Amino acid sequence: MKKMLMKPVMAVLIGGALFAGIASAHSESTGNAEADFRIAEMKKLGMNMGAIAKVAKGEMSYSDSLNDNAAEIAEIASNMPKLFPEGSGVEASRAKPEIWTETAAFQEDIDNFQAAATQLVAAVKTGDQAMIGAALKETGGTCGGCHKQFRKPKE
Ligand code: HEC
Repeated sequence: MKKMLMKPVMAVLIGGALFAGIASAHSESTGNAEADFRIAEMKKLGMNMGAIAKVAKGEMSYSDSLNDNAAEIAEIASNMPKLFPEGSGVEASRAKPEIWTETAAFQEDIDNFQAAATQLVAAVKTGDQAMIGAALKETGGTCGGCHKQFRKPKE
């Protein structure tokens, strides 16, 4: 069944890739540079959180580089208001339109995330596994809070 669909789909994909140029042929671009940047920053958040989670779970031992992970999370947190310029909620983006209408609630989610990220930086600095775990959980909760309200489900 899938095979029958393959040819027209491939033709569209190849046509689209040629039109968009080589640079975007291998990436999953939304067609909007600001949305693409936002998604890339979100992915960085995920990777840094993952690195800290490994230590919190005891799968990896603590090292100083964990401070870099926490610092990058905090840096992206402080830059987060700039990641959502108007007009970047394009079709292929999972940013919900409510981001630009329920601005107070959205700002509150950013504030919560920024506060948690600051705590996370401090907790990671202690090197204490339990404290890192607690701060990580707190931070993860703020990611989830915003996603629940302002991110479209995966298609
Ligand atoms: C203030 C709101 C908000 C906060 C806080 C937030 N996110 Fe997101 N996140 C979003 C939105 C909206 C999207 C959808 C972006 C898009 O598709 O344009 C998203 C997308 C993502 C994605 C999917 C990227 C992809 O591959 O499509 C990941 C992963 C992610 N966020 C991780 C995190 C992590 C980890 C945190 C916390 C450390 C976090 N986010 C905090 C709103 C937020």
